[in-house]
Amino acid sequence: MGFQTDSIHAGQQPDPSTGAIMTPIFQTSTFVQDSIGKHKGYEYARTQNPTRQAMEKNIAVLEKGKHGIAFASGLAAISAIIQMLKSGDHVICSDNVYGGTYRVFEAVFKKFGLSFSFVDTSDIEQVKKAFTAQTQLIFVETPTNPMLTLTSLSAIAGLAREKGCLTVVDNTFMSPYFQNPLTFDIDMVVHSSTKYLNGHSDVVGGIVLTRRDDLAEKLFYLQNAAGAVPGPQDCFLILRATKTLALRMREHEKNALAVARYLEKHPRVERVYYPGLSSHPQHQLAREQMSGFGGIVSMELGSLDNARKFAEAVRIFSLAESLGGVESLVDHPAIMTHASVPREERMRMGLTDGLIRLSVGVEDEEDLLADVEQALAAIG
Ligand SMILES: Cc1ncc(COP(=O)(O)O)c(C=O)c1O
Repeated sequence: MGFQTDSIHAGQQPDPSTGAIMTPIFQTSTFVQDSIGKHKGYEYARTQNPTRQAMEKNIAVLEKGKHGIAFASGLAAISAIIQMLKSGDHVICSDNVYGGTYRVFEAVFKKFGLSFSFVDTSDIEQVKKAFTAQTQLIFVETPTNPMLTLTSLSAIAGLAREKGCLTVVDNTFMSPYFQNPLTFDIDMVVHSSTKYLNGHSDVVGGIVLTRRDDLAEKLFYLQNAAGAVPGPQDCFLILRATKTLALRMREHEKNALAVARYLEKHPRVERVYYPGLSSHPQHQLAREQMSGFGGIVSMELGSLDNARKFAEAVRIFSLAESLGGVESLVDHPAIMTHASVPREERMRMGLTDGLIRLSVGVEDEEDLLADVEQALAAIG
């Protein structure tokens, strides 16, 4: 089936008791059993919930996977993956991951005897050098948040096979519409479904997708055993939102490309980061492993003062954390989303005080361009 057909139908059928076309919100904590140990496949809602299962199956199909395991947030999903490891294990991670991912690895999991090396995974030689005898997992974000640096999915998958370790790709930025890492032999994909999957800025959620039965079994075990599960209403909203994922992603990309091209020519903008521009150093790799370039554009405005003036002047864009919703947002990564990354690390990656990240929404293109134009004029 095509992506749009799958996004509307996969994992769902009319409710057998009423014919309701939309999967109901099973707002229940427990399920009545016919006899001791005899039930309809549902015992307790932390363990199984029909609304959650429909959403998990739907996104598993969209990611070209077999299993979806949903969590209460993107970070809960990432934490479950790390909980599969044991004390003493080592993880290689992209250096420019989302700040919260860096924080949970460094400030929470390190205490339990795990170790993490943050390296530029876009350079496969650096990944090779970071291996130790204890390396069990490579965690990659591509494109990264907010520098939009790409890592080669096939190079990472190939190296991991050679070394016998697992691979995870955070695919939040591209969504399953533009990139499917499992088709490159990556073991697990993780999403903050808070972002494009839900797309309407009204849910926090996360999900892990895999083709491997053994990994799914461990993740379902952790979903129940550690218990960071999403509620049924949030699952319903995400399931409703994936029906329009393709439509939204095409609009996000069209608008983002228009904004990126405009910014690239603007004298106030020192540098634009967007994989869809031919000036992006990894534009060719983007064409090879993604079917589109997404809705996030970052730009360098030269100073905190300029960044502040821009963020205060926008009228349609809103200054807020998060991304991937239908409305356009402005983020200042150094002070907002990536404040937990040490300054030295940030500077090394180009995550300066003058960097602004735009999550380009699906409003009218002309209105967004006019807004960016007047906000850049406010810099003076
Ligand atoms: C790329 C990426 N991964 C993971 C997360 C964490 O997801 P959540 O906020 O749903 O816990 C975020 C949040 O911004 C993100 O941007």
